[in-house]
Amino acid sequence: MAKVQQETFNPFTPEFGKVPAYFAGREQVLSDILSAFEEQTMNLCALFVGPRGCGKTALLTYLGNEASRLGWVVANVSATSGMLEDIVQRTEESASHLIAASSEKRLTGVNIAGIGGATWDAKSNTKANWRTRMNNLLERLGEADIGLLITVDEVDVSLDEMSHLVSTYQHFVRENRKVALVMAGLPFHISSLLSGKNTSFLRRAQRFELGPLASYEVEEAFRLTVEEGGRLINEEALGEAVEAIDGFPFMLQLLGYRAWRMHPDDAFLSVDDVRAGAQRAQRELEDRIFDVTYAELSRADRAFLAAMAQDGKTSRRIDLMERLGKPSGHISTYKKRLVQSGVIGETLDGDFYFALPGFKEYVERRQG
Ligand SMILES: Nc1ncnc2c1ncn2[C@@H]1O[C@H](COP(=O)(O)OP(=O)(O)OP(=O)(O)O)[C@@H](O)[C@H]1O
Ligand SMILES: [Mg+2]
Repeated sequence: MAKVQQETFNPFTPEFGKVPAYFAGREQVLSDILSAFEEQTMNLCALFVGPRGCGKTALLTYLGNEASRLGWVVANVSATSGMLEDIVQRTEESASHLIAASSEKRLTGVNIAGIGGATWDAKSNTKANWRTRMNNLLERLGEADIGLLITVDEVDVSLDEMSHLVSTYQHFVRENRKVALVMAGLPFHISSLLSGKNTSFLRRAQRFELGPLASYEVEEAFRLTVEEGGRLINEEALGEAVEAIDGFPFMLQLLGYRAWRMHPDDAFLSVDDVRAGAQRAQRELEDRIFDVTYAELSRADRAFLAAMAQDGKTSRRIDLMERLGKPSGHISTYKKRLVQSGVIGETLDGDFYFALPGFKEYVERRQG
């Protein structure tokens, strides 16, 4: 007879942009943004900032889904060329049950506009610029009191369409249209976006730093995720997992996923499973995060990190000055760059530490 056993499935999601079974931490950002959707706030404008793998895309996806559940029309796009057109098309798609598509109208030649009998002028549409086309859509949504949420992932200031979007958004706000704009990007990109001439208005946006997770947040989410898949984990194994994850969301998923697969049919996820999973996860983290991150660093950034790697957990400014043979100003400049790229952090005492779990060892290997 076949064993009667509850099917278990691996509940961890080590894929980029995947909404996790449980969000560890992030309570503030979730509650702030969700309540803005619930209260139908007119012009929510928010920025998510954080290093690779901290959960920016997952948050955007989750919030987009929630907004849509709460009746918003949602256009999710990435900052790549064609973004503005993509926003129009995603809006039309998401609102298709409310707004009859223009092509349909051209085909039938009949006015079948969904909302309030508004007419759609297909001819002028082809000539209209982006703002006009958006206004047209927003007009219709506005008549039905429906808001539009635009999410932009992978913010990139070098894209002209980015500043076009932001400056046009300001007009939407002035015209009292119900549009929310939520954008996510790497710290370096967001700070260049904020310092741009046409985009300085964003300095007033709500800004959420998606930093490392607290241990108790990791612990809770890890345990709940294991239980979600129909298994259990004891304190000891959980403690090991939390330590290896070191507050990094992507690692939580990678480690959990690998550990789970060691003995998927056992009732408990054991300490050994966690240890074996952590080893595999660390290698994957290197392939999928560290290599890209390291490739984006300059020669001087790398020298700075190599100097830091000679220390234990934290490095002091004075030691780095000596090792690098550079003045304090140099340290400040590179510290700022590296903090912004999410690679290092600064303690309250002004010491520096590696912010990604295992990155110090990785730097040592790359240098060696
Ligand atoms: N708060 C969280 N708790 C648990 N898992 C999370 C959390 N946030 C993200 N994850 C998981 O971490 C992984 C990375 O998330 P995501 O792809 O959203 O990161 P990202 O910041 O967009 O990275 P990148 O900058 O490389 O695009 C995904 O597998 C996701 O499910
Ligand atoms: Mg992403």
